[in-house]
Amino acid sequence: MKYLEIKGRPDACRIEVGVPVSRLESYCDPDRTVIITDGNVRSLHGRLFRPYRVIETNASEESKILSTVEDIYEKFLHYGLDRTSFVAGVGGGIVCDVAGFAASTYLRGLPFGFVPTTLLAQVDAAVGGKNGVNYKGYKNLIGTFNQPRFVLCDHRLLATLPVHELRNGFAEIIKHALIADAALFLYLEERLEGVLALDADVIEKVIYDSISIKAGIVSADETEKGERRKLNFGHTFGHALELSTGLGHGEAVSVGMVMAARLSETMGILAGDDVERIERILENAGLPFSVDMDKDLVMDAIDKDKKRAGEEINLVLLDRIGAARVVPVKIRDLREAMDDLCQHR
Ligand SMILES: NC(=O)c1ccc[n+]([C@@H]2O[C@H](COP(=O)([O-])OP(=O)(O)OC[C@H]3O[C@@H](n4cnc5c(N)ncnc54)[C@H](O)[C@@H]3O)[C@@H](O)[C@H]2O)c1
Ligand SMILES: [Zn+2]
Repeated sequence: MKYLEIKGRPDACRIEVGVPVSRLESYCDPDRTVIITDGNVRSLHGRLFRPYRVIETNASEESKILSTVEDIYEKFLHYGLDRTSFVAGVGGGIVCDVAGFAASTYLRGLPFGFVPTTLLAQVDAAVGGKNGVNYKGYKNLIGTFNQPRFVLCDHRLLATLPVHELRNGFAEIIKHALIADAALFLYLEERLEGVLALDADVIEKVIYDSISIKAGIVSADETEKGERRKLNFGHTFGHALELSTGLGHGEAVSVGMVMAARLSETMGILAGDDVERIERILENAGLPFSVDMDKDLVMDAIDKDKKRAGEEINLVLLDRIGAARVVPVKIRDLREAMDDLCQHR
């Protein structure tokens, strides 16, 4: 069991990795705490939080909206929550986002904590203090910056996770290694089977290292001005692919990372051998590294990206495996490079 801390407001966040979730009661008193979870997690793991009052939500992107948050406020009222109450989100990234946002806004902010139950939520969504909901089709448009008091990551919860959900998390872990930790990337290459089989020691180390990378970046840049942008590696292309091809998030980010790596190579800052290593690890993890796409649709989606600034867009590119930088790229140049970035090699 290992832990790390993110300083932040309103308080520091303590992230524990490897702690059995059966210890939840020592982190939040059942008499004061309301748990927010989703139906899948409740039916698979509900026994772990039996003494608590539970609010069940729907884990779908379509229901990650304000009306769901309103339903939660209504339950908070019904349960008579006051400023001594505590909210715990137990579930994937959707539950964490909805629970963190509802808690942060009710009574001008109740303390909250997370028990992330997907790999993606453990290494990404539950870490960093950003929580939000979708609005009029725009992802995470409405939200808060507020640290949870704790994040308990128990890898044993992942045993029930469908393999494609595991891969979603794995794509983010590879992203973290690529932008900041060459040693973790090498470890992932060497121990991939252990990671995918959820071998306790291996997965615990990988989750911890991955969280350390995000936590380090977030601590340096809590409100997303500089360093934090690196966490978008693969995501500008990824979001455009999600919108235009119907790929799931992890798959889209996987192809997006390959496109960003190839662009880094084209611009002369990343070695071709490194691009091949990236493609190989994604492929071995069961993630795609290319997809048939309509390039105009992808470019249209990039055109609409909220991170775009005028004729340029800030993209995260790699200097090498383990080191990233943010580079403004002209939309026109990107359009020209698209053929090369999308080619099946
Ligand atoms: N706030 C942030 O910084 C941040 C960062 C990344 C992603 N996100 C958000 O996270 C969301 C995606 O999160 P996700 O990938 O965890 O999706 P999710 O919350 O939809 O969970 C995926 C599926 O797995 C199920 N599930 C959860 N735990 C399980 C378990 N242990 N066993 C079996 N099934 C389980 C869920 O019910 C759901 O059907 C998106 O809405 C995204 O915007 C937020
Ligand atoms: Zn992502």
